[in-house]
Amino acid sequence: MYGSTNLSEEDAKRMNTTVEDPEKLEAFESRIARGEKIEPQDWMPVEYRKQLIRMIEQHAHSEIVGALPEGTWITRAPNFRRKLALIAKVQDEIGHGQLLYSAAETLGKTREEMLNDLLNGKSKYSNVFNYPAKTWADIAVIGFLVDGAAIVNQVINSKGSYGPYCRALERICYEESFHLKQGHDNVVYLATGTKHQRAILQDAINRWYVPLLHFFGPPDKMSAHSEKLMKWKVKLASNDDMRNQFLDQYVPKIWELDITFPDPNLKKNNDGIWEFSDPDWNEFKRVINGGGPCNAERIAVRKFAEEAGRWVRQALMSPTEKYVVPLA
Ligand code: COA
Repeated sequence: MYGSTNLSEEDAKRMNTTVEDPEKLEAFESRIARGEKIEPQDWMPVEYRKQLIRMIEQHAHSEIVGALPEGTWITRAPNFRRKLALIAKVQDEIGHGQLLYSAAETLGKTREEMLNDLLNGKSKYSNVFNYPAKTWADIAVIGFLVDGAAIVNQVINSKGSYGPYCRALERICYEESFHLKQGHDNVVYLATGTKHQRAILQDAINRWYVPLLHFFGPPDKMSAHSEKLMKWKVKLASNDDMRNQFLDQYVPKIWELDITFPDPNLKKNNDGIWEFSDPDWNEFKRVINGGGPCNAERIAVRKFAEEAGRWVRQALMSPTEKYVVPLA
């Protein structure tokens, strides 16, 4: 019913292949080594296609689920200027979902299948969006640190090997840089405000610290997909490298506001590597597998949106067409 897919009959037949044609595989890997972009109609190993669908689909879900905690604060923003900025940001995030679903569709999975897999729990989305936004300071922290973490990850991914994903990410990163400014302005305002404003900011940072460490995925030695993704240049930095880059860029910016992180072991070593206490990887596993504080609520809201919007999609669909043609 939504969008379209680009899977040729031949590629569809190959989806269960486990052994690839060695000549084609070599030519493909040489293209990657030369830094060429792979495009939807090019030959690619089935595993490359499957990994990209998994990753881009999870990313798209994260954008639309990620709009939910912030969306709940639109009616409660402290003033009109903040409200306008938040409305624009939430709208951008939904647009990012649209771009990413379109990029994933080029690999052959329909949008309907992706949304069904989000709702039936088969497909994951980012851990961070399963935590509540309890006060306005959470919106400041999401805008500055969650979006800051996303920019670290997405700028790196945008240099990857799959053309449609990289092009979508380039545009997303431009928009995210505005979100970051909005978040930074909000954080600085609270940090330099009243005792109460500083206290709610500190409380929000205390609650977001561990989810932010989890955001970049498990430690490299526990990461299931990194090796393959890095070999094919889908990922250009490991989970630990991205986490380190994030800490390096953002911890000093929080410390300079005289706000702390709830970890006495957080420090930068002489070799440039940040050290921190073990962020409880069991909690990470629980949250990404549906057991976080807000997983059930997030999926329930998406289910409601899916059901309540069905008649609109059906009304837009011409009886002679299989898919709704996007209006844009
Ligand atoms: N939230 C939810 N699940 C996560 C996660 C996170 N922050 N980090 C890792 N995982 C999941 C992986 O999806 C994988 O699960 P799966 O096998 O069921 O798909 C599992 O944990 C093992 O992790 P790993 O092998 O390290 O996954 P990865 O190589 O795909 O790396 C990312 C994880 C997030 C770095 C990578 O997928 C990525 O860059 N994704 C695109 C960007 C994105 O989605 N950003 C978040 C939203 S802004």
